[in-house]
Amino acid sequence: MVSARLQLGNSRRSDQFPLSIVRSCHSFEGNERDAMLLEIDAITKSFPDSEGRVPVLQGVSLGLEAGQTLALTGDSGSGKSTLLHIASGLEQPDTGAVRLDGTDLTQLDDSARALLRRNDIALVFQQFNLIPSLNVAANIAFQARLAGRADNAHIKTITAALGLDPYLGKYPETLSGGQQQRVAIARALAAKPKVLLADEPTGNLDENTAEDVLAQMMELVAQTGAALMVVTHSPHVAGRMDRQVHLRGGVIG
Ligand SMILES: Nc1ncnc2c1ncn2[C@@H]1O[C@H](COP(=O)(O)OP(=O)(O)O)[C@@H](O)[C@H]1O
Ligand SMILES: [Mg+2]
Repeated sequence: MVSARLQLGNSRRSDQFPLSIVRSCHSFEGNERDAMLLEIDAITKSFPDSEGRVPVLQGVSLGLEAGQTLALTGDSGSGKSTLLHIASGLEQPDTGAVRLDGTDLTQLDDSARALLRRNDIALVFQQFNLIPSLNVAANIAFQARLAGRADNAHIKTITAALGLDPYLGKYPETLSGGQQQRVAIARALAAKPKVLLADEPTGNLDENTAEDVLAQMMELVAQTGAALMVVTHSPHVAGRMDRQVHLRGGVIG
C-alpha cells in the first residue's frame, strides 16, 4: 500500500503545493479524520429558477477512506451528479466542506483547486466530456499526462481491458455512446487518481462490457488504494461496492 500511495504522488505534494495549502492539511484534529481520504461535510447546494432558488442538496455528509468503494443511488433529479461535481471540486457548494486528505477544496482559489483536481481526482462525467480535437489515445492519456504520471504499460492494460484498441486513432464524434463512455472511464483510470468519481459509468454499456468496467475500477482500488464513488442505477453495480447510500429529498437517507 505504501509504495502504491507514493506512486500516486503523495511524496510530491509538499513540493508542488503552496505552503498555505500544505498547512491546511494539518488544520484538523483527531486520528479518525486523519484516516478519511475524502470527506464531504454538510454540503448544501441550490440552483436558481424563475421562482427563486431550488434546493438540491440540503446537508449531505459522507466519508470515504482510501480503498473504500461506495455506491450512490437516487431518483433522477435527486442531485447525484451535482454531488459528484461538488466532490470533485468542479462545482462549489453553497455551504459545507469537501476535504481531500484534510485539504478543503472549497476554500482553495481556482488555480489551487484545479491543480489538486488534476493530480488527485478523476471524474467520469455522465455525458463523458471527451475532448473532440483529440483522438482516443490522446483522450485516454490526457489527465495522466497533465498529472505527470502517464504510465504507458498501465494505459495499455486499461485500453485492452476495455476493448478500446481498435479505436485509438479515432475521434470521439465517430464513436458510439458506449464507446465514448469506455474512453471516459479509461481516461479516469489512466490517471491513477486518489479519488475516482464515476457518474453512471455503465449506463450505456452491455452487461459484459459493464463487468469489464467494474473489474477495472476495482483493480484500481485494489492496486492503488483509491477511493471510489459510483453513481449507479444498477443494483448489480451497487451491490459490488462496500457501502450503498441513497440520496432523497436533498439528504442521504
Ligand atoms: N447548473 C444547473 N443549473 C440549474 N439547475 C441545475 C443545474 N444542475 C442541476 N440542476 C438541477 O438540480 C437537480 C439535480 O440535478 P442532478 O444533480 O443532475 O440530478 P441527478 O444526477 O440525480 O439526476 C435537477 O432538478 C436539475 O435540474
Ligand atoms: Mg445525473
